[in-house]
Amino acid sequence: MTADWLDIGWLEQIPVRGSRTVPVAGGEEIAVFRTGDNQVFALVNRCPHKGGPLSQGIVHGHSVACPLHNWNIALKTGEAQGEDKGCTPVVPVKIVSGRVLICRSSALKAAA
Ligand code: FES
Repeated sequence: MTADWLDIGWLEQIPVRGSRTVPVAGGEEIAVFRTGDNQVFALVNRCPHKGGPLSQGIVHGHSVACPLHNWNIALKTGEAQGEDKGCTPVVPVKIVSGRVLICRSSALKAAA
């Protein structure tokens, strides 16, 4: 099943507490986040509130604050935190020998 893992580059290419985006079919993007403790998470780059670009938010702990209205989205589940309700699709991601790989079929499905 390795063919289903898309290599998107070195972990070091993603800023700590930042992200990079990967375009997928249909004009959507996957946002790949790197946390302060060097874990990676991938979500569709679309806030569950009004579609804000989560990749431009601020990563704190294992959450990202949406740049538009400051909703906090859990990176692991894609769920809005606190009083807010909504969920962004999550894409499996892993690090192999310093390279970041995202699950291609999940990315396509999540962005559909
Ligand atoms: S669009 Fe993200 S908080 Fe409103």
